[in-house]
Parts: sequence; C-alpha cells; structure tokens
Amino acid sequence: MATRRKTSSIAEKPPQGDSRPWPSAATEDPPLAPPKYGVVLAVSTACLLPFFYLLFVRYEIEGELRRSISICAAMSFGGFLVTLRMIPVAARYVLRRNLYGYDINKKGTPQGNVKVPESLGIVIGIVYLVIAILFQHFNFTADSNWLVEYNAALACICFMTLLGFVDDVLDIPWRVKLVLPSFAALPLLMAYAGHTTIIIPKPLVQYVGVPVLDLGWIYKLYMGMLAVFCTNSINIHAGINGLEAGQTVVISAAILIHNVMQIGASSDPEYKQAHAFSIYLVLPLLSTSLALLCYNWFPSSVFVGDTYTYFAGMAMAVVGILGHFSETLLLFFLPQVLNFLYSCPQLFKIIPCPRHRLPRFDPKTGLLTGTKDGTLVNLFLRLFGQCSEKTLCIRLLIFQAFSCLLCFWLRYIFAGWYK
Ligand code: UD1
Ligand code: MG
Repeated sequence: MATRRKTSSIAEKPPQGDSRPWPSAATEDPPLAPPKYGVVLAVSTACLLPFFYLLFVRYEIEGELRRSISICAAMSFGGFLVTLRMIPVAARYVLRRNLYGYDINKKGTPQGNVKVPESLGIVIGIVYLVIAILFQHFNFTADSNWLVEYNAALACICFMTLLGFVDDVLDIPWRVKLVLPSFAALPLLMAYAGHTTIIIPKPLVQYVGVPVLDLGWIYKLYMGMLAVFCTNSINIHAGINGLEAGQTVVISAAILIHNVMQIGASSDPEYKQAHAFSIYLVLPLLSTSLALLCYNWFPSSVFVGDTYTYFAGMAMAVVGILGHFSETLLLFFLPQVLNFLYSCPQLFKIIPCPRHRLPRFDPKTGLLTGTKDGTLVNLFLRLFGQCSEKTLCIRLLIFQAFSCLLCFWLRYIFAGWYK
C-alpha cells in the first residue's frame, strides 16, 4: 500500500537491557480531534426515531418481544459509549505500531501530511461481538433453536473481522482479498439448518411450474456469494471521509425499519422470530458504527480500515440470510450494486485498475474532480460537478437513503402481486 507505513514489531522494540520506558504515543502524537457529536446526533435521530415509533406506537407487538428488543437497544447504547471511549485509546496504539494512512483527498494541504490511524474497525468489531455474545444471556436458553445459527453468525462476523485486520496489516493482493469472505462465511454455511427453498414470484410461477422451489446446495452457494458481495461491495464504495461508516449506518437503519414492519404485520411466531433475530444483530452494528462516524466524519481523525468494511458487510449479509430477506437487502444495497457493476471492467482487469480509484483533489480550491475510474464516487462528481469531500459524502449518503426508500416503496407497490 502506497500510503500506509508498517514496520516489524521486532524492529521497534527497545534494545535489551534498556531501562528507558517504552515511548508513549500519547506524548508523540497530537490527540484526536474531538468527536463530531452534532452530525451523529442528527443522523441517529433520523435513523432511530422511525424505528422506535414503529416498535412502540404504530404496531401492537407482544410485550416479551418488545422487552428483548429494548434490552438489546440498551446494550447497544452502552456499546456506543464504550466505542466512543475506546477509539482514541486504540488510535494511539495503532499509531504506535505504525498502522496509519494519509488522507488522499487532502494531498497538498497540511492535513494531507497528518498520519491518520488506520483499522479502527477493530474496536467496533470487538465491542459488537461482546454485546452480541452477552445478549444471548437475556434472550436464548440452552435448548433454543436459534442458538446454533446465532453463534454461527457471530463466528462468521468474528472470522471476517480477523481476516480484515490481517488484510490491513499485511496488505493482501486484490484477487486474494476478493475470496476472503467466502472462508469467513463457512461457519454459517456449515451450521445452517434452515430451509433451502425459495418462493417463486407469482408472475414467474407459470414458467417455473411450482410456487416453491427447493434449491438444496445451490441455496448455500447463494448464501456464500451474498457474503462475498456484501463485504467487497462496501469495501470498494469507499475512500471518502465518512462514507464507509455512513453507508453502514443508513443500510442498518433501513434493515431495522424493515424488520419491525415485518414483525408488526405478521402473526406467524417463527417469522417474527426470524426478524427479531435480525434486529438483535443490527442494533449493535448501528450503534457502534455511529460512534465510529463521530471520528470518521469529515475531516476524518481515524480511518476504518478493511477490518471495518469487511466486518460491516458480513454482519449485514448474515442478517439478510438468517432473516430470509436477501432480495430486500440487495435493494438496500442499490448504490453498492451499481458501483460494483460500474467497477467490473477494472475489477476484472479488462481495463487497468490503479491501487486507488479516488477523485482528483485540487488543494487550491479544496474541491474534488471526477476521474475516469469506474466508481460511483467519480460518476457523481462527473454528473453533478466538482464539490468538496464533505458535500460528496452527503450526496452519496442521501442517494443511499433514497435507495432504501425506493425499496420500501417497491415492496409496498408489489405486495400481493409479486409474492
Ligand atoms: C478500495 C478501492 C480503492 C479505494 C480504497 C479506499 C477498489 C478496487 N479498491 O481499496 O479504489 O481507493 O478502497 O478506501 O475499488 N483513504 C482516504 N480517505 C478515506 C478513506 C481512505 O484517503 O476517507 C485512503 C487512505 O490512504 C487509507 C486507504 O485509503 O489508508 C485505505 O485503502 P484500503 O482500504 O486499503 O483500500 P482497498 O480496500 O484495497
Ligand atoms: Mg478498504
């Protein structure tokens, strides 16, 4: 990686017998800029208000389910506070181990020479896993049917976080990177005992011949491919301050709203349980990502690293798989799908693919210009003209939110006709 500096930990150790204290990063590096609470307060209000309104006011949901979701929400809020507290601490440690990057979209300005701590996704991953593991105490019993799949989902997320961190430290070649999520998805693919059938959309039943089709092992293959897509598509729709964490926050909020709507509209306990399950896995993802956004919003004082992009992508993939709403999930991922399709010629080396496919920054004006690289980021700049990095991120996140709204609208319009 051109912009990241990594050195061997052995080379950095003080000489044997040296009684001088280990150099403290706190004394060498300036403290992180204060977290941007204002932005995150506005974003969290917009994301969580509709969810809590639907949960407590709009729908009649059983008290037991509401209680479990409320416990999960309270634990997630605790996770938000812990993440806020831990990021500056972890940032000092990663800088001490020379794990940092330079902000490419600030090149040529004093900010472009600042070492920005990398891979802070490791904090989010750890806090998330602790919350999700502890939550089992409140919701599952030893003979709970859901326990195996819940823990398999956590194993996938944990494995993916590990591989993401390995990638950040070792800078794995792109082709290898692409397949890492298929290994991380193995715990779920092996433990999955749910159905492998799909409901054929009503307009297609006459062509397929059956209303429900059992895909068998092909369903598992599809699950693995979904995990590979979600992780990589988040990772390549990146490189702008706040975009990685921001897109995760928007999609997570949409998943929460979708799940609570499904619970509210259904009377089937199994179906409700599947959607409650998704809520338990997404609430801590949203809260810890909001804490990350406090530091990652423009101008970023930390970078999320592939640790975070892979972790977030895998968390959303397992939630979509186990909640049985992967088509809806893919509609929430519309910007990522478009970015992937637009990236294909470069990803598959039909045309040259540079290490970073980011816009061109003009230090005199502080504006970004779109390059010819096939990314949505560049396409937005070419379509809507030059703008600052912050404006570009806001535009891309608004597009993400509109894609989620479009998905809700499509589900509403086609309800009953499609499935
Ligand atoms: C993917 C993209 C690459 C993009 C990069 C940005 C593909 C095939 N790869 O690569 O085009 O440039 O993500 O994350 O599409 N950075 C910033 N500002 C930010 C975030 C990151 O300048 O807001 C830079 C920093 O130098 C940071 C580096 O990007 O160190 C991280 O890049 P990395 O995640 O390793 O890139 P890839 O995921 O391999
Ligand atoms: Mg990356």
